[in-house]
Amino acid sequence: MSLISKMTTGIAGLAIMATSAMAADLSIVHGSVGRDHEILRKQLDKFEANTGNTVTIVSMPESTSDQFGQYKLWLAAQSSDIDVYRMDVIWAPQMAAHFIDLNPLVADIIGDFVPAAVESQTVDGKLVALPMFLGAPALYYRSDLLEKYGENVPETWQEMTATAQKIMDAERAAGSDGMYGFVFQGAAYEGLTCNAQEWIASNGGGRIVELDGSIAINNPKAAEALTLAASWVGGIAPEGVLNYKEEDARGVFQSGNAVFMRNWNYAYALAGGEDSPVRGKFAVTTLPTGGEGTSTAATLGGWHLGVTKYSKNQDAAVELVRFLTNYENQKERAIVTSRPPTLSAVYEDADVAAQQEFIPLWKPVVDNALPRPSAATLRKYNEVSSAFWTAVHNTMSGQGSAEENLAKLEQDLTRLKGPRW
Ligand code: GLC
Repeated sequence: MSLISKMTTGIAGLAIMATSAMAADLSIVHGSVGRDHEILRKQLDKFEANTGNTVTIVSMPESTSDQFGQYKLWLAAQSSDIDVYRMDVIWAPQMAAHFIDLNPLVADIIGDFVPAAVESQTVDGKLVALPMFLGAPALYYRSDLLEKYGENVPETWQEMTATAQKIMDAERAAGSDGMYGFVFQGAAYEGLTCNAQEWIASNGGGRIVELDGSIAINNPKAAEALTLAASWVGGIAPEGVLNYKEEDARGVFQSGNAVFMRNWNYAYALAGGEDSPVRGKFAVTTLPTGGEGTSTAATLGGWHLGVTKYSKNQDAAVELVRFLTNYENQKERAIVTSRPPTLSAVYEDADVAAQQEFIPLWKPVVDNALPRPSAATLRKYNEVSSAFWTAVHNTMSGQGSAEENLAKLEQDLTRLKGPRW
């Protein structure tokens, strides 16, 4: 019996019998930072109790780039071991062929979702994944330290650099040896693509690949942004930042050892948690700009749920995807993990506003977040991103100047593009 006929059956008893007779053992593959895993398990327990199905979580490494590699292997092998994949916002165009079209199965609820989120998961009219939560990073700052040193919240990257240096030096002189000015995601992976897109776009240097597919990244504004970022390494940022992912940066900031941090929304609930040394001592603002005439840029992030074509339990898997994205579960996720929801109404929820002020505060930033060029570059996005983060990482680790690395990147992207993306 299909999900649709199960839902439309008029005889309640029959529907219950059908459900229990069809109890499925599902698996969901899921990367995790902070409390993602814990809250997912809690919600899965409810799903199991409601449906009689069981759900196993297959855990992934933190790096989205490592997850991408593993997913591609399973999907290429048409593995039926995984039913539901939690997918990064950028993957839909590259993975669409392996997933069922959710459109007919969520037609009754899709109008409640943030339209741009739905659009990001729609490839040639097919809904590849149902949006689970969004992301738009913030500049986290130590409000206590800014106040102590009479500094303003920085509006430009240059101001951020100067303030970070000043407070770091003063705190170290006063005995806080481990203090740094700024931490972010500098390892050679997708996270660096997100950070560097922000530095460049907010400095007027354009996109990695423009919306129309053209390549304009080899320009002086982009070089200027990368040169400034390279100056942070071993200065306001530890040398080790070149290996940092999200949780490394959060670890330093949350233990009280950084003035500024660039991170996604999940870090807000954790840094503000009862056991956090910086609880009550930090605040968030939008990422800096490059100065006059430029505007802030926050990369669009997020994770969404797709059902693979190779699943032997597609009906139950769709039921699970609907469950994890329903109002109650999105609300709980927003409150506990400060992840921006994908249901528009949750942003207006009074309990959310009272218990997690970051969500309504950040709605405009999420709405205006800058997508990566995954739609423009289609199947080649991962190679594009990898060429980009390599150019940035080389610049930051002293292997060539920004100008040299951007010139090489332009060649690499042009070759990757060929006659068309
Ligand atoms: C976050 C974002 C995701 C991005 C990743 C990079 O998980 O939600 O979109 O690709 O960070 O590290």
